[in-house]
Amino acid sequence: MMNNSPEVSLNILIGVTGSVAAIKVPELLKCLETRLNAINKKNCIKIVATDKALQFFSPHTLANQDSQPYKVYKDCDEWDHWKTRGDPILHIELRDWADIFLIAPLDANTLAKVANGLSDNLLTCIIRAWDISATFQKQKIVLFAPAMNTKMWTHPITVKQICVVTQEFGFKQIQPIDKVLMCGDVGMGAMEEPEMIVSRIISELQNFD
Ligand SMILES: Cc1cc2nc3c(=O)[nH]c(=O)nc-3n(C[C@H](O)[C@H](O)[C@H](O)COP(=O)(O)O)c2cc1C
Repeated sequence: MMNNSPEVSLNILIGVTGSVAAIKVPELLKCLETRLNAINKKNCIKIVATDKALQFFSPHTLANQDSQPYKVYKDCDEWDHWKTRGDPILHIELRDWADIFLIAPLDANTLAKVANGLSDNLLTCIIRAWDISATFQKQKIVLFAPAMNTKMWTHPITVKQICVVTQEFGFKQIQPIDKVLMCGDVGMGAMEEPEMIVSRIISELQNFD
């Protein structure tokens, strides 16, 4: 069970998918670390990125405030980790390790996979193996920040999928925002700003104090 007393480390797993909003990962990490330090929360942050997410940021450029590189897991790590029977299985290890799984940005493709139970990469295997009862009992948290084109966001299939992941799986949504999207369209669907995402994490943590 998650324990948030200051002396106990909080394990935060950040899932990143192939939305252009993934370029904000460095800003998100910086903001998260600063805010957690300010409230004296010890934390350990690891990242899991889809192959497409890695088109938008470079894992090598990510370092924490002590200049230590963040661990960024990629799909290939799953299979590098497992060679023979008895070896640890990475998606289960990360699932067990994480107190909080923040998926930011969550793109339309991965949302569809999660809502339908597909698990063809490391990130979707972690979420597919997630302990849903622990989420409903507030022992673990899944938060997600959708990011997609307005037409994708307002599409009826998206509405259905959001309903499944929030109501049936107990995951918490960080509502996207209305702005000029990077593709030039104007409307709802952009990922919430990193600072606001972090504020939401902090407020979720306080519910457990
Ligand atoms: C430049 C670029 C930006 C993209 N931005 C988004 C986006 O913001 N949201 C989205 O749902 N898909 C976006 N896509 C499409 C996804 O990258 C694509 O669906 C991909 O298969 C997602 O893979 P993943 O879910 O495994 O990360 C973008 C594609 C490109 C080429």
